[in-house]
Amino acid sequence: METSPTNQRGLQDAAALLRHSAAPAALTGAGVSRESGIPTFREAQTGLWAQYDPTELATPEAFHRNPELVWQFYQSRRADLAAIQPNPGHYALAAFETRYPDFSIITQNVDDLHERAGSKNVIRLHGRLSANKCSADCKGNPTPIDYTGIESLKPPPCPHCGAPLRPDVVWFNEMLPPREISLAGEICASADVLLVIGTSGMVSPASLLPAAARSAGAMIIEINPQISEISRIAHVHIAAPSGQALPALLRLLESTSL
Ligand code: APR
Repeated sequence: METSPTNQRGLQDAAALLRHSAAPAALTGAGVSRESGIPTFREAQTGLWAQYDPTELATPEAFHRNPELVWQFYQSRRADLAAIQPNPGHYALAAFETRYPDFSIITQNVDDLHERAGSKNVIRLHGRLSANKCSADCKGNPTPIDYTGIESLKPPPCPHCGAPLRPDVVWFNEMLPPREISLAGEICASADVLLVIGTSGMVSPASLLPAAARSAGAMIIEINPQISEISRIAHVHIAAPSGQALPALLRLLESTSL
């Protein structure tokens, strides 16, 4: 990793905090998957879907208005995801669980790259692209439905009630899953170091978690090539891509744990 003196210092400071940490955790956003080839939300959507505003595709109203269009948008993203691999940043975070057995990742991402890289303790605030549920929550919220077909151009019917299936992701104007947001709050209240990686910090309630962690005494380490809404409360900011910074940080930790 080509490291500026500022980032070299940031890595050293972050490693020093983590070396003395008993309960680190991480909050990730779209930036951690950027080096796997998934555009972030603040970048323009590319290709066919660039003509649509996300609110035309990722809201309950959009699904009610045009279920086929929304279903095809998500089927297209699922097909794209099938060809995408975790990057070195995902693998480095998975290795943190070896060093810190209770290490948890709170993610806003709906890809499954953290799990595919080997992370076990992943709290998903915005759901999972590869999962489907009944759009009528006919057996409770959520009513997960195991459907992996990729051929259908329109949402298949729920086998229980016949309502159309929908992706099990949180759309704009929807509440986050209560269990996950509560667990994320508990983790941030007890973490002594919180890594905040690849998020603009623009979408609540996830964006409120770093400030809650800092108020509870956590040191905040941000990894983001840009300044974000989180930067002003970060104790350390490593302005580098996470696919480079996280492996470099892990090497520093491993080189001094001997
Ligand atoms: N490494 C680390 N960070 C990166 C990288 C990288 N290689 N590339 C880009 N970033 C940073 C950008 O600078 C930006 O600050 O990742 C951040 C991505 O921000 P957003 O696109 O806003 O994504 P995110 O913060 O995850 O959005 C939160 O908003 O649209 C909703 O539900 C959606 O979960 C999403 C939520």
